[in-house]
Amino acid sequence: MTQSEWIPSGVDISVPSVARTYDYMLGGAHNFAVDRALGEQIEAAMPGLRNSARVNRAFLGRVVRFMVDQGVRQFLDIGSGIPTVGNVHEVAQAEAPECRVLYVDRDPVAVAHSELMLVGNDRAAVVQADMREPETILGGAEARRLLDFDQPIGLLMLLMLHWVPDSADPRGLVARYRDALAPGSYLAITHATADNQSESLTDATDLIKRSNSPDQVNLRTHAEVTELFDGFELVEPGLVGCGEWRPGGPGDIASQPDMNMLVYAGVGRKL
Ligand SMILES: C[S@@+](CC[C@H](N)C(=O)[O-])C[C@H]1O[C@@H](n2cnc3c(N)ncnc32)[C@H](O)[C@@H]1O
Repeated sequence: MTQSEWIPSGVDISVPSVARTYDYMLGGAHNFAVDRALGEQIEAAMPGLRNSARVNRAFLGRVVRFMVDQGVRQFLDIGSGIPTVGNVHEVAQAEAPECRVLYVDRDPVAVAHSELMLVGNDRAAVVQADMREPETILGGAEARRLLDFDQPIGLLMLLMLHWVPDSADPRGLVARYRDALAPGSYLAITHATADNQSESLTDATDLIKRSNSPDQVNLRTHAEVTELFDGFELVEPGLVGCGEWRPGGPGDIASQPDMNMLVYAGVGRKL
């Protein structure tokens, strides 16, 4: 693929984006020098952080398989990011080919690359939108084509709600999505936390602040992340370190336990 196919016009390559920096941390190729520099600085400030990105992706695979096992056949992945290994539609459709997936991201590079990945797949689509506009996303043409709101939906918000500041009312936003879902739907969240705060975490978040990226991280406590599940019943084992959510193998768990505790993971079932 040539660069011109995945760099949409108008993208500012002088400031890092979370989607591209995360892609770099995962070993992807859809990032610029500014993203790689930030990724390296963050990894230097907090050695092992890259590993927690991989643990999050391993969780994504487990949680999609869990939801398919529960009978879910449609997924809404918000803040889906730049496609990488084990995307939601690949995991879900490998388990049950009839699964339908709508990806949503506000980052133009993430959306452009997702569009390329989904050419020829009429059971999955991507839309460029800000999660702070639930009605636009839920009422959009692709949502109406792919999702049946009378049936359970697997709503995924992985490593994304910590980019939503308190001033935007993340709890109220999640509730607006919840209200559109049928009972028996599931919500999965992974969210960065400062509960096990260390100096290196402060250094890493300071680096993001100083990078002038439009994406700024809002670390939240266990209680604050739990509140995001209002109206959902957390399934076992509750809100835990990402690698501790029903681990299936050695690759699921961060090699350093303190890294595992940087990201909470939980899954709730709509009552
Ligand atoms: C760290 S990546 C996570 C990607 C994927 N969910 C995962 O867990 O592997 C966070 C993604 O959220 C997106 N994002 C951040 N804020 C957003 C918003 N308000 N609306 C839509 N997408 C957003 C970013 O563009 C980025 O692609």
